[in-house]
Amino acid sequence: MFSNKIVAITGAAGGIGLGIAKMFANNGARVALSDLKAPEAQAKELGGKAYVCDVSSEASVTSFIEAAEADLGPIDIYISNAGVGFGDGPNGEVAGGSNKSWETSWQVNVMGSVYAVRDLVPKWIERGGGRFVITASAAGLLNQIGSASYSATKHAAVGLAEAIAIAHRADNIFAHCICPQYVRSNMTKGQKFAEESKDGLLEPSDVAAALKNAIANDEFLVLSHPVVGEYFKGKASDYNRYIHGMAKLKSKIAAEDLPLQNQE
Ligand SMILES: NC(=O)c1ccc[n+]([C@@H]2O[C@H](COP(=O)([O-])OP(=O)(O)OC[C@H]3O[C@@H](n4cnc5c(N)ncnc54)[C@H](O)[C@@H]3O)[C@@H](O)[C@H]2O)c1
Repeated sequence: MFSNKIVAITGAAGGIGLGIAKMFANNGARVALSDLKAPEAQAKELGGKAYVCDVSSEASVTSFIEAAEADLGPIDIYISNAGVGFGDGPNGEVAGGSNKSWETSWQVNVMGSVYAVRDLVPKWIERGGGRFVITASAAGLLNQIGSASYSATKHAAVGLAEAIAIAHRADNIFAHCICPQYVRSNMTKGQKFAEESKDGLLEPSDVAAALKNAIANDEFLVLSHPVVGEYFKGKASDYNRYIHGMAKLKSKIAAEDLPLQNQE
């Protein structure tokens, strides 16, 4: 399905990013995998190339794009997948995480995509099209109990993906926004709330399959957990009911079981 397409992926050393890289490689694409440390072994296994890219640095993002295009050819699909999450205050105070954790979340979860879009969109307009995928989260449509910085920046990531899709459809540039609930990765490792989620802990390959499907059907939202679509509709139709329901859910979670407890 993606025969000879050039696909660049950030945060691709493991988890969802690597799952997506595998899906594209298995479907004929040539993949450029990047992370804070070059994922050499993973890229080799997929017949792709590995790069260092710190998405919080514009220079690092543009060097990644430049190097991947020099090695493999013009990028057709860019997967902005790198992401971070930090907890609220030590006693669960909302917005109680450090300024550093908020700033890192903004840089990685939002600006990392902005830098790539800024570089690629003019090129794609000239080349006749492209596809930009952002791994946001269900937290970008709903909320992440225990992390206001994750919720706020993932909402921003959804807004950015929408903006690309709206602004550049006429340029044949498509955008997709991946909004999973819990998925097995380093981010959820050892987190009881994620591992025992009533909506299920998916595998990265499930998210990758949902992305493949969304591209085939030209669907903006990639809902690997279809129930997220139902919750999102519920939120839109009765916001107060949603807030009350989430507050009730929060009150049932023991403080030590809250997800994303790490601090920066
Ligand atoms: N696992 C889940 O339950 C879940 C659910 C919804 C959304 N997500 C999102 O999926 C994406 C992938 O996360 P994952 O679950 O596979 O976890 P993960 O920790 O395995 O992957 C995140 C990757 O991002 C990389 N990264 C962190 N900071 C970076 C930076 N500054 N520059 C470049 N790379 C950086 C990490 O090194 C890591 O390899 C993230 O955006 C995350 O927010 C995860």
